[in-house]
Amino acid sequence: MTIVVTGATGHLGRLAIESLLAKGVPASEIVGLGRQVDKIADLGITVKQVAYEDVDALTDAFRGADKVLFISGSEVGRRIQQHTNVVTAAKNAGVGLVVYTSAPKADTTDMKLAAEHLFTERLLADSGLPHTILRNSWYIENYNVQQALEHGLFGAAGRGRIAASPRADYAEAAASALVGEGHAGKVYELGGESFTMDELAAEISRLSGKTVTYTDLPEEKYAELLVGVGLPPAAAEILADSDRAASRGALDVPRTDLETLLGRPVTPLADSIRAQLS
Ligand SMILES: NC(=O)c1ccc[n+]([C@@H]2O[C@H](COP(=O)([O-])OP(=O)(O)OC[C@H]3O[C@@H](n4cnc5c(N)ncnc54)[C@H](OP(=O)(O)O)[C@@H]3O)[C@@H](O)[C@H]2O)c1
Repeated sequence: MTIVVTGATGHLGRLAIESLLAKGVPASEIVGLGRQVDKIADLGITVKQVAYEDVDALTDAFRGADKVLFISGSEVGRRIQQHTNVVTAAKNAGVGLVVYTSAPKADTTDMKLAAEHLFTERLLADSGLPHTILRNSWYIENYNVQQALEHGLFGAAGRGRIAASPRADYAEAAASALVGEGHAGKVYELGGESFTMDELAAEISRLSGKTVTYTDLPEEKYAELLVGVGLPPAAAEILADSDRAASRGALDVPRTDLETLLGRPVTPLADSIRAQLS
């Protein structure tokens, strides 16, 4: 069996490959794709330098692949063409199963960040390729505990519940979907232990012994704050919009699907905070 992982050079990709190896997939049966391939030279797998812009190189890399873990690209606004190339290449190569990392509630949410994911889900559906959708909710790593201790937490998520897990949980779930049977045609809503931003602040306070507060801002003010700390305006706008959507439940997903794929409970929020504190 050959499993190709796109975005293998990123944080999630590396963890997914490590999970595949831990599940007993031989390194000789894993191919990792990315641009900065030096980053995964240590994994012992086959590595190919391929950009999402190059449909021919993608097709070559997918040829002979039984399964592809298609990790969504990180360049928001450019993913329509990039993801079209990936799906075209997977179809050209006759891949047996594509497992795609999407966004929570992609087909019903009004979160702007999800639009390119919904487009990709529809591409996959139209392609006729067997596929599995992993609608990953937030990574807990999106919240920087050290910065929270220094400056407090800020956002526009109100009292919306946010189901977050460490990337390692989502990576392990992806590996399960790749090596297990019966996942073709399934859509999984994946999220971990949920919290409001006030609850996150309280938990960081409890575990660190230092009081951390959460300041909720109107969406536009939060976007201004993000620009003020150096984010490009387009990125700030999309993150503030995500918080606005979160305030209305966009990231509030049950942990059931993630725990089913993991075959264990999700990583507790307290453990994730402790990992950042240590
Ligand atoms: N759920 C969440 O909270 C959350 C948060 C952030 C991102 N995401 C999504 O989840 C994905 C994986 O997360 P992550 O933390 O692993 O992100 P990451 O560390 O930024 O990795 C992104 C990966 O995408 C690859 N990539 C980007 N543009 C590419 C292109 N044009 N051609 C080929 N490869 C390209 C990068 O390759 P190189 O580094 O080699 O260029 C890298 O391997 C992200 O790309 C994004 O879609 C989700």
